[in-house]
Order: sequence, then C-alpha cells, then structure tokens
Amino acid sequence: MSMQGSVLAVGKYLACLEFMLFPVWRGIGVGAGVRGVWSHGWGRSLQWEPDGPAQGPRMPVVDYPVWVVLCRGGRARLWEACQRGRDVIRLPADMLSIKLPQLFDIHQIPKVFREESITSGYRHPQSSALDCVLSSFQMNNETVNIWTHFLPTWYFLWRLCVLGSTMNFLSDSYTWPLLVHMLLICVYPFTSCCAHTFSTMSPESRHICYFFDYGALSLYSLGCAISYGYYVMPECLVNSWLHQHFVLIALGNTLFCTSMSCYSRFLELQFPQRSKALRTGAFVLPFIFDTVPLFYRIILCCGGSCVTSDAFSSHCYHLLFALLTCFLFTANFPERLAPGRFDYFGHSHQLFHVSAVVGTHFQMEAVIADMTSRRTWLLAHGAMPSFLGTIGVLVASLVLNLGIIGIFSAPLLWKPCHGPNQPRTSKSECKEQ
Ligand SMILES: *[C@@H]1O[C@H](CO)[C@@H](O)[C@H](O)[C@H]1NC(C)=O
Ligand SMILES: [Zn+2]
Repeated sequence: MSMQGSVLAVGKYLACLEFMLFPVWRGIGVGAGVRGVWSHGWGRSLQWEPDGPAQGPRMPVVDYPVWVVLCRGGRARLWEACQRGRDVIRLPADMLSIKLPQLFDIHQIPKVFREESITSGYRHPQSSALDCVLSSFQMNNETVNIWTHFLPTWYFLWRLCVLGSTMNFLSDSYTWPLLVHMLLICVYPFTSCCAHTFSTMSPESRHICYFFDYGALSLYSLGCAISYGYYVMPECLVNSWLHQHFVLIALGNTLFCTSMSCYSRFLELQFPQRSKALRTGAFVLPFIFDTVPLFYRIILCCGGSCVTSDAFSSHCYHLLFALLTCFLFTANFPERLAPGRFDYFGHSHQLFHVSAVVGTHFQMEAVIADMTSRRTWLLAHGAMPSFLGTIGVLVASLVLNLGIIGIFSAPLLWKPCHGPNQPRTSKSECKEQ
C-alpha cells in the first residue's frame, strides 16, 4: 500500500486509538522549491526532512491510523502541509472540516454584547444552543465564568447530600431553614452557569439569561434571611418585631431586588453607570438587611449572645469575602488596568464568581455551626421554624420572582426588534431575525 493510500485510509480509523501516529511537520514553510522527503522519525512519527536527498530512500509503507491534535492555528498548518505535500500526503477532506466555534473581537460584535475592557474571545452573538454548550469546552471569554460556577454547584450539592444523611430534613422542622438555604446555594451557581453558557444565542436570550441569574441571586438572599432569621438572630432580638417579620421583609426584598436588577439591564446602553449603580444597589440592599442580625450580634454582643468562637471566624471570613465580592462586581478590576490582558483568565467577573462561592462556603459553615450550637437555646425560646415560614415562603417567592422575570421577558419575546423598552440593537440584526 502506498503512503498516499495508507493516509487516505486514515479516516476510517480515526476512532481507533490503538496505534497513534503523530505527524511532526518540520521545515514546512521554509520556502518554495525546497526538495525533501518524508521519513520515519522516532517510533511512530512522520518527519519532513527539507534537506533530505532528492532520491532518498522511499518511505516504508505506513499502515497506521493518524491521530492529529490541532492546536491554535493547527488547521491552517495542516492545510498548508497537505497543499505542499500533495503527492505524498492527503488527508480525508472531512477531517479538515472539523469546526470549532469561531471567536470574535470586541468591534466585531453588537454593542449589547460588549463588555468593558474585554477585547477578544467573544463568541458568535447568534450561536446555536449546541454551540453554546460546546463553547464551554473551548477557551473563550466565558469559559472560566461557566466553570467557576458549574463546579461549585456540585460541591454544594455534595454538601447538601452529606447533611441530608446526618440530619433529618424530612421530619425535623428545625433543619428546614438550613434546607432552604442549601437548596438556594445550589441553585444560584447553577443558574449563573447556564446564563453564561446560553447568553450568546441572541440579544434577547442574553437579557433573559441574566434575568434568571439575578432572580436566582435574589432568591439566595432570601435563603440567607431564612437561615439567619432562625439560627443567627441574637438572643435579645428573638421574638422581637424584627424577628417576627424578618422573613416577610426579606421576601419583599427579593421582589424589589429582582425587579430593579432586571430593570437595570434596560438602562445599560444609554446610562451604563446608572445601570451598574442601580444593579449593585439592588443586590446590596437585601444582603445588608440579611446581615443585620449578624452585625447586631458581633457589634453589640447583646444579651450575652456573642458569636461563639467556631461560628465567629466563619462569619468573619464570609463578611470579608462578601465585601470583596461587592468590590469586584463594581470595580471592573483588574481588566480596566490592562484592557485585553484578562480576556480569558482573571477578569473581574471570574474573580467575582470565585469570591462569591468562597464567601458562600464560609457562610454555610457559619450557619451550620450556629445551628448546631444554639439548638437547645433557640428551641427553648420558641423559635421553632414552621413549614409555611420556610418551604412555603421559598415556593411563594419562587413563583413571584418567576412572574417578575416573565414580565420583563415578555416584551423581548414578543417584539424582538421594536419593543418600547428594549435595549437597542443594530438594525442589521433586526433584519436578520
Ligand atoms: C463574552 O462574550 C460574550 C459575547 O460572545 C458577551 O456576551 C459577554 O458579555 C462577554 N463576557 C465577558 C465577561 O467578557
Ligand atoms: Zn456571572
């Protein structure tokens, strides 16, 4: 079998990994007219010898499948090699047509998709759902964003399962606030991961994806309020007016937070700063409210209920990371210092994800510590969680928040191009739809 024949046969054996043959191209592009031969290099590699004798020993028949790993620019190199070595080597045409989704620079995509100080690595603004999923395995500006919330989802789910095996979530109502908290801790990274994955299907999908992302975050603030209200509340506030209305106010906060953060997206193009301030405020408010019992306990040590040592350090780490998270969300640091440097790794949103997750981890530890150490005292003082006050509130706020997201999404879905409040997209895009 000739060399050409054997390489042509490659396509049939691509799936077979038993014999792998890595072609090593050397000297291709050294200049036209250079004569050379293909020879066997070490073991199972093919080498191009540009200075080899014109009548060199003929290459022994190679009857192996070829397996090629294409690196960046590899396709072009391979194509070039096939052009130059036309008589000797030919690869099946379909092998060259493997396509990775293409990436774009900031000026190639519509304004709605642009991110400040991120100059490259943008995916196509009208990717298919499949492309979106595939793109999470390709290095682009969202890859790290996707994975920094996908992996933590599994971590928190695992923690929930372990807790489920040691606590009785079904019948012990004292654990329900923790259950709600843990469920929402799993939901928010997962929603965010999906939002980052599917946000490049269209301008509308981008807005709707982030509506869900904001909704999940604001539900998470409710989860914090429920667990703080039952386990972290200082002794002098137990059974106070604030304690009795804590969860209800937090429910109101989630409605406010979701509406404001979704609304802020409509201001983004015209008033980027106002939009960012509104969104930040919308998230800071519920989280500050949730943390009031904790501040109270730390600062005032009221009723002798200072934070016990094991929970105390976790609470403090959580607060530190919460501050850092807020800073990263607002500051666009570090990419604003060197636009283009952090397109793939290390931009503020990735750090924001990591910091949020680490903060959530410490918060979870603190809540669990408080919950176990204060159980007898809390139960003795009549702070028994009810089904309605925990799972019921969760379901109600889920429904209400989905309703808000629906209200904001409706104009985008019905009038993709001429909606009254919709952020303006370029005209060419409207024609395409
Ligand atoms: C990444 O690019 C997409 C467009 O493909 C854009 O929607 C998104 O905002 C960008 N994200 C970051 C963090 O730059
Ligand atoms: Zn995110």
